[in-house]
Amino acid sequence: MMQSVLNPGLIAACAKVRVIPVLTIADARLAVPLARALATGGLTVLEITLRTDAALEAIRRIAAEVEGVIVGAGTVLDAQHATAAIQAGSQFLVSPGATPRLFDAAEHWEVPLLPGAATASEAMVAFERGYRFLKFFPAEQSGGISALKALGAPLADVKFCPTGGVGAGNMAAYLACSNVVCVGGSWVAPAKLIDCGDWAGIELLARNVREVRPGSSGTRL
Ligand code: 3PG
Repeated sequence: MMQSVLNPGLIAACAKVRVIPVLTIADARLAVPLARALATGGLTVLEITLRTDAALEAIRRIAAEVEGVIVGAGTVLDAQHATAAIQAGSQFLVSPGATPRLFDAAEHWEVPLLPGAATASEAMVAFERGYRFLKFFPAEQSGGISALKALGAPLADVKFCPTGGVGAGNMAAYLACSNVVCVGGSWVAPAKLIDCGDWAGIELLARNVREVRPGSSGTRL
């Protein structure tokens, strides 16, 4: 099976951290201190969205300068995005959904893809292509925890990373679902802390998030 589908390494890394910060970085100079703060707080798998001009340079810098971090690219919409992100040093790719063309292109990538799915049909298409680990997106808007549980009954072999509307108040409940490996979200690195370079504040947020127990009532954030 091709490399983009065969992703036990990615699943193991995500299962260990349980939370993937989704980072939209406007200034590449902030990438390294931000990644270091999150990693020091225990969050070592990072998704950088390809939504800014600085995104590829941010990935390049984190991959080159921050040890112990697995950096991936999010918002991968097509093969061109993917190639640029891989060349920049992305170790995994995340897409909000998936298309036949994206799946075809992924057959040639040397890094794993976490494709998005929000419905049973979308999950089945990914399953047919060999994927067993999917991003459930947009999680809250697509029915949240009850939708995930319902998908889990017929799709017992599929695991998810719910993203979209996940935050301090509901992450523990998501993590308690048996078909959830980890959650993703932007709340761990709020723009207001990034903008003022409050790396200690972000490290503390990361630490608090790492301490959350599945099924508990949430974090102190
Ligand atoms: C993503 O790109 O995965 C989402 O935009 C993150 O969603 P959130 O901002 O609601 O966490």
